[in-house]
Amino acid sequence: MTRKTFLHEVRRDKDLITPGSTQNWIEKNKISIESQLEEHGAILFSDLPVKSAEDFDHFVSAFQYDTFTYEESLSNAVRINKTDKVFTANEAPKEVEIFLHHEMAQTPIYPKYIFFFCKSASLHGGETPLCRSDHLYAELLNEDPNLIMKFEENGVIYNSVMSNGDEMVSGQGRSWQKTLGIKSKQEAEIRLNDLGYTWNWIEGDNLFVTTKPFAAIKELEDGNKSFFNQVLAASLGWKKNSKEDISPVKFGNGEEISESIIQIISELAKSLTLLRQWEDKDILLIDNYRVMHGRKPFSGEKNREVLVSLTT
Ligand SMILES: [Fe+2]
Repeated sequence: MTRKTFLHEVRRDKDLITPGSTQNWIEKNKISIESQLEEHGAILFSDLPVKSAEDFDHFVSAFQYDTFTYEESLSNAVRINKTDKVFTANEAPKEVEIFLHHEMAQTPIYPKYIFFFCKSASLHGGETPLCRSDHLYAELLNEDPNLIMKFEENGVIYNSVMSNGDEMVSGQGRSWQKTLGIKSKQEAEIRLNDLGYTWNWIEGDNLFVTTKPFAAIKELEDGNKSFFNQVLAASLGWKKNSKEDISPVKFGNGEEISESIIQIISELAKSLTLLRQWEDKDILLIDNYRVMHGRKPFSGEKNREVLVSLTT
């Protein structure tokens, strides 16, 4: 497996000067874009005539994938819809780092493709780090085969608090009402039962939830495997959400994932991470099965506006 190929860049063709011509171009080149994505894991489209959330919606629509709606997802991030299929990437405050993760790998349903659109880049920071998880899996297997075996055998469980009403101070502040798509506590319990999760109501009608075990490794179509989970994001970024100080992620058998293990994974992931400054109008397409992403903190007067669309 080569480690060199990663982000494949597609520059604007001189004929692509209207959103309509871009859509035609996508329709004609979809197969080659998909095979490039399969090879590289991520594709960057620069300087296309895509300026607004609506243009971006049309760009994504040209691929004719099924939309993965935020509303129906079990995503824990607070986002704001701009069109039916386009929403803000995450409303977490700018100083908050969102660590590497596969989108919604902590839930039973997750998107295959993630489209990002940089409507406005921040002045400093705000990059979307990318890390190939198939490469990370291979490195981990090489470094500690027993650890990989443990992840493969047990999977992982996630512990989190779903707040009563949206909470805007973290990257995981979506309310239990919206996350579960219900209104009452009774409906919440039915939904959680269906999902196979366990839960406790805690102070303030907040909900402490433990998922069932989810696979931590995913087999890809090319036969390789990826380290497909939210182990880094949860252990490094999610706050410990209860008086008992319960870890946000554990092995599926309930065993703690030690700090030294997190450090090994984190260091390896760092060595494989690509960090690139956003430019206005960039569109980034990533294969969520193969590539992890995150969000670096940002600053400066210019507002960072990165929109996202998820599809399967
Ligand atoms: Fe994400």
